[in-house]
Amino acid sequence: MINYKTLGLVNTREMFAKAVKGGYAIPAFNFNNMEQLQAIIKASVDTKSPVILQVSKGARDYANQTLLRYMAEGAVAYAKELGCEKPEIVLHLDHGDSFETCKSCIDMGFSSVMIDGSHLPYEENVALTKKVVEYAHQFDVTVEGELGVLAGVEDEVSAEESHYTKPEEVVDFVTKTGCDSLAISIGTSHGAYKFTPEQCTVDPETGRLLPPPLAFDVLAAIEEQLPGFPIVLHGSSSVPQEDVDTINQYGGKLVAAVGIPEEQLRQAAKSAVCKINIDSDSRLAMTAAVRKALAEKPSEFDPRKYLGPARDSMQKLYMHKIVNVLGSNDKL
Ligand code: G3H
Ligand code: 13P
Ligand code: ZN
Repeated sequence: MINYKTLGLVNTREMFAKAVKGGYAIPAFNFNNMEQLQAIIKASVDTKSPVILQVSKGARDYANQTLLRYMAEGAVAYAKELGCEKPEIVLHLDHGDSFETCKSCIDMGFSSVMIDGSHLPYEENVALTKKVVEYAHQFDVTVEGELGVLAGVEDEVSAEESHYTKPEEVVDFVTKTGCDSLAISIGTSHGAYKFTPEQCTVDPETGRLLPPPLAFDVLAAIEEQLPGFPIVLHGSSSVPQEDVDTINQYGGKLVAAVGIPEEQLRQAAKSAVCKINIDSDSRLAMTAAVRKALAEKPSEFDPRKYLGPARDSMQKLYMHKIVNVLGSNDKL
């Protein structure tokens, strides 16, 4: 049993309380490899932002859970080396699919876990989330639950269409489970294709697809039920058009990719939404930079020559999110 505190990590409790009070959101960036982790830590140190490092089931399968855990420990040391005296770094399991997965992460030094029972019947979601909370809280590990289903694929969980969180259920869920934060569904979804072209309107000036707005009325009703309680938004990538264009320019094929407009995320971050999950935008930034570097120098075969620019591009993206969208800068 490894306690995350000995690794220099923190849980989300205090971080979220400050974020809700201060009207900003903590970035939760997924990572699968060293370049992503370096870029996340550098961006959070340079902007003086707390940060949540998220590990999905797919990341654990890809990179090995033990290695990821040591990378997170290394991230704390790296942040200090970069000049941050007291880094606030959370190691979080994204979309935990069972009690066993959550327990194994907690036992390995994670400081926060998500148990995603959103696809289960309500009472089963309550029972599973409660079981994880009871285990996690013994070690002061915080737990994110989820109510409502996002459209698209959530690791093991898939849904054809989104089902917004029902505001009338949230108090009962939080009270019965004891979870520390709640992921909700208000129209976001995972990946780079968040809406079909039919769901969008076309901007007459740019010809770009404009997605329908998030259900801010549902968010307001949830906040009214749970004043000050930490709310989480998954599926919050904005799918920057420049990265999509670069990918397509250099041989990619991303057709009709659409994300959540940053303006709406800015609005959400000012509310009780205190954790915003971003993965796809980092994938797009990395892919665009790699494609460009390889296309411009076809004779290059040193991975540092294309992963280096990819890392720079991701760092720029993370800093932009922190400063211009979430507002979590200058909080350390
Ligand atoms: O919510 C999904 C995250 O973007 C993680 O995706 O399962 O492909 O690692 P992944
Ligand atoms: P995006 O696919 O919009 O980046 O969402 C990531 C996410 O919610 C991870 O849990
Ligand atoms: Zn998610």
